[in-house]
Amino acid sequence: MFFITTAIDYPNGKPHIGHAYEKILADVLTRYRRLKGEEAYFLTGVDQHGQKMVKTAEAEGVNVATLTKRNTKVFLKLWEKLDVSYDGWAETTDARHQACVQAILTELEEKGSLYKKSYAGYYSVRQEQYLTDRDRNEDGEFGPEWGEVEEREEENWYFKLSAHATWLKSTIESDALKIIPEFRKTEVLNAIERASETDLCISRPKERMSWGIPLPFDPEFVTYVWFDALINYISFAGYRKSDGSDFPEFDTLWPADLQIIGKDILVPAHAIYWPCMLHAMGFEADEMPTLLVHGFWNVRGDKMSKSLGNIIDPAELADKFGVDTLRYYLCRDIHSGKDSDFDPERLVMLFNTELANDLGNLLNRSINMTKGFCNSTISSTDTDNEEDRALRESLAQSTEAYIKAMNHCEVSVALQAINDHVTHCNGYLERHKPWEMKKDETQLPRVGEILSHTAESCAHLALLLSPILPAAAEKIFSQLKKEKLNKMTLNELQWGLLEAGHQTGKPKPVFPRIQIEKKESD
Ligand code: ME8
Ligand code: MG
Repeated sequence: MFFITTAIDYPNGKPHIGHAYEKILADVLTRYRRLKGEEAYFLTGVDQHGQKMVKTAEAEGVNVATLTKRNTKVFLKLWEKLDVSYDGWAETTDARHQACVQAILTELEEKGSLYKKSYAGYYSVRQEQYLTDRDRNEDGEFGPEWGEVEEREEENWYFKLSAHATWLKSTIESDALKIIPEFRKTEVLNAIERASETDLCISRPKERMSWGIPLPFDPEFVTYVWFDALINYISFAGYRKSDGSDFPEFDTLWPADLQIIGKDILVPAHAIYWPCMLHAMGFEADEMPTLLVHGFWNVRGDKMSKSLGNIIDPAELADKFGVDTLRYYLCRDIHSGKDSDFDPERLVMLFNTELANDLGNLLNRSINMTKGFCNSTISSTDTDNEEDRALRESLAQSTEAYIKAMNHCEVSVALQAINDHVTHCNGYLERHKPWEMKKDETQLPRVGEILSHTAESCAHLALLLSPILPAAAEKIFSQLKKEKLNKMTLNELQWGLLEAGHQTGKPKPVFPRIQIEKKESD
């Protein structure tokens, strides 16, 4: 089973465009695996504990449990709206997750992987971590990125992270724990020594922060939010599940084939803490997940933040421009792990050119002319003609490039491959001008062949596009009167999906152009 997970989001506010991108990416890659005929399981959810939640609840004057429930619903509603279709939903306040975390803690304590000690130092409330002198800037200060920094002394429980440093280094070097893209691996290797030289504090005293999972062996403490949250990847996959639980069978899922995360939580959480936690639990190098690290969506070069007031709301965009437009833009405009700038004008422009004009027009012309000139009937596409062969070759090349890109999780490259064939088909129609040819009745058989080539292409393109735009693909299949193609897998894909004599349906724009209303002042 291909197992895909994402980071679990803090529901301490509304979901933003970064949250939406990550879940759409996971949804697209899950759908792609199924398109390949593989079984796939997609787990996502929310990270409900920790100081961030408590602070937000205090600021809003509500009980933290109430805030958590209320905001979790907003995330759930968004995933439904955006066609993000997951198989497992992780909420860290779930009693089953709590039991799993406690079982792991008990085991680690018994093994001697945890110890209690007193520590005095500077603490960043925002990052929920103690700072060291290395975190000071050139002026010797803790910079604004740490938020409020206070002096603290307290007893806590620690996880012997440093005991795993050597093992971790070789595990990452050998790609047993694979990090995609490659440049992120280098980043991790450079950070390992520093990040793993001290042990990890895994508790918070209850008197200061009680919104967490109690340590089973020391009830005055709750579990540090990251230690709790990372375990979601295995608890909700069935690790140490109780009898009768409806969680999946752990052995069928683990290790995760893709753990999709943003670049900010790679070091130290996912590339250091998480593998060391797994190793301490008894997982070996060949049982490590693969990390797929994506870049950030920024806004005019700035990071999105509450303080800048530039947070982009995906629900609003989907309502205004449509779910397809948003899914397409988010997949199309960010490249292999790099950052990207969110630009609503580009969102509209890309939809209008690549979907409405190019693919939409190809589909609409093909079905419309097949209806008008050929009685909605497909002709043979088994022709011996130079132009037709070139079109079939273009489709084969696009399909190959698409598969290669999708196997490497490079969705934007896959979309470019699709668009290359769309461009080829539109050029083919422009060169032949079937709307002119049909005026000469003797040419009608050839007109049929030409339109059948472009209609056949549309069927293929819809299938390739279906992980990214599932609703649009369904509409295209339905206009081609080939609803059953929705269930087809890539290995069944071959030329001739629309057989000679097949009747196509009624044309209806699948990607109606977005009209931008001009402001009065413009
Ligand atoms: O970090 N662009 O939660 P989170 C793209 N609860 N992705 C972004 C982004 C942006 N501008 N901002 C955030 C957490 N993300 C923890 C994770 S996992 C066991 C616990 C990504 O709500 C971010 O990198 O702050 C992360 O992958 C996800 O959104 C959730 O971020
Ligand atoms: Mg697997």
